[in-house]
Amino acid sequence: MELNILTLCYLIGSITFILGLKMLSNPATARKGNLVAAGGMTIAIFGTIFLYEENGAKLGNYPWIFAALAIGGIIGTMAAKKVKMTAMPEMVSLFNGMGGACAALIGFIEFGHLAKGLSNGGVIHTGMLSIILVGLVIGSVSFAGSMVAWGKLNGKLKDFSFPGQHIFNLLLLAIIVSLSVYLVVNISPENVYLFYVIAGLSLTYGVFFVFPIGGADMPVVISLLNSFTGVAAACGGFLYDNKVMLTGGILVGAAGTLLTMLMCKAMNRSLSNVLIGSFGGNKSGGAAAGSTPQGNYKEISLNDAATVMAYANKVIIVPGYGLAVAQAQHTCHELEKYLEEKGVEVKYAIHPVAGRMPGHMNVLLAEADVNYEKLMEMEQANDEFKSTDVVLILGANDVVNPAAKNDPSSPIYGMPILEVEQAKTVIVNKRSMKPGYAGIENDLFFQPKTSMLFGDAKKALQDLLAEVKNV
Ligand code: TAP
Repeated sequence: MELNILTLCYLIGSITFILGLKMLSNPATARKGNLVAAGGMTIAIFGTIFLYEENGAKLGNYPWIFAALAIGGIIGTMAAKKVKMTAMPEMVSLFNGMGGACAALIGFIEFGHLAKGLSNGGVIHTGMLSIILVGLVIGSVSFAGSMVAWGKLNGKLKDFSFPGQHIFNLLLLAIIVSLSVYLVVNISPENVYLFYVIAGLSLTYGVFFVFPIGGADMPVVISLLNSFTGVAAACGGFLYDNKVMLTGGILVGAAGTLLTMLMCKAMNRSLSNVLIGSFGGNKSGGAAAGSTPQGNYKEISLNDAATVMAYANKVIIVPGYGLAVAQAQHTCHELEKYLEEKGVEVKYAIHPVAGRMPGHMNVLLAEADVNYEKLMEMEQANDEFKSTDVVLILGANDVVNPAAKNDPSSPIYGMPILEVEQAKTVIVNKRSMKPGYAGIENDLFFQPKTSMLFGDAKKALQDLLAEVKNV
């Protein structure tokens, strides 16, 4: 009877994961989706703790289990409450690394049991050992890689590479795979130590795999590592014949892979280019130092910008990375409300890779209570620019760079962009003429219909807001 209830708990868990994931795809239901999936996970965890039985015995160890749950729960809640939007990728990376470590630890524990049986004259099931090794290798790579990614994103670690590193990495991977196959085929008490060698090499591979990748490419790598963790967790599901772990792992694995592919597509880059190459020769992802602007650009005063926006019929705001850095989303929402009070229709155009992580702008604007119905995806926005009086670009650069359409020699050529130049007037707010993430010049800034409004996005918006109130 209890086993049936446990199966039901796992079924509920699996269904809520799928429902939650579906709900996450819409801003209106995303928050609820998260809670639904978390609820399902809670049911699955407590079901396992209280109902799981093996050879008639329950799990036991309750003080240990609940102490670990309490410590993890408290640290997780505090970290999630405290984290700034701009630090979100590093937190995701840290949490993902913990998932990878758990999957690898399952491998350690279960291999320990098998090795004990082996030394007592037992035999090891080849399939089981294979799954343990796959979980161990992928989990260790994900853990070590995520820790390096976390360190790089919070500035504690610098990019590191040496000539021939990619060959070294491939060689390391080949050794890990060969040793794993050897161990599965020739497992004996004498070569049990190879398991720990494989674990060490996998951790080393994870470190060397992530170290050379440019800081701003980290979200793509984190998403990839996330899918690794999912696969490693699914291995645990196989091992324990635990359906909810299997479903959860497969969902994370599939979602991470899809997200990785979508991000690469939206940047018009292959995954190998992200992992091995650099973007516009700018590996760090920061603005290319010292590049000087070509051509003439014109500036607009706050008063003129306020006037042209206040008398417009339709204004589209294009948020970018700079808006997130300046934490200007609340002021932006204020400006939107004032403009609407003056009868201006205001919408937002969201590029899929605006910012530095998937959905960065959507989350940022949701935080400021911007109505999600005002948010347009790229395709819809590109249809609307023609009928727009003013486009206000806030700390965005690459995602509005026409070189992606017009210049085959540009590193971003082929990347779909927001075609803002179709609007009547374009106002660009940024601090200087420095390039963005791709490290390249943006011809949009030099076009006759474009005017530059220099300054930190938050300060510029506060000043613009004050001027709009006076118009
Ligand atoms: P970027 O092209 O990086 O441009 C951001 C601009 O914001 C910069 O040119 C910078 O100019 C300006 N800025 C910085 N701080 C500012 C502040 N405090 N106030 C006002 N402006 C400020 O950003 P984007 O247009 O959002 O494009 C995103 C880029 O990131 C793309 O190349 C994309 O491929 C890449 N990327 C995105 C993702 C995801 S998933 N979103 C993942 C990896 C890579 P100044 O220095 O002159 O102010």
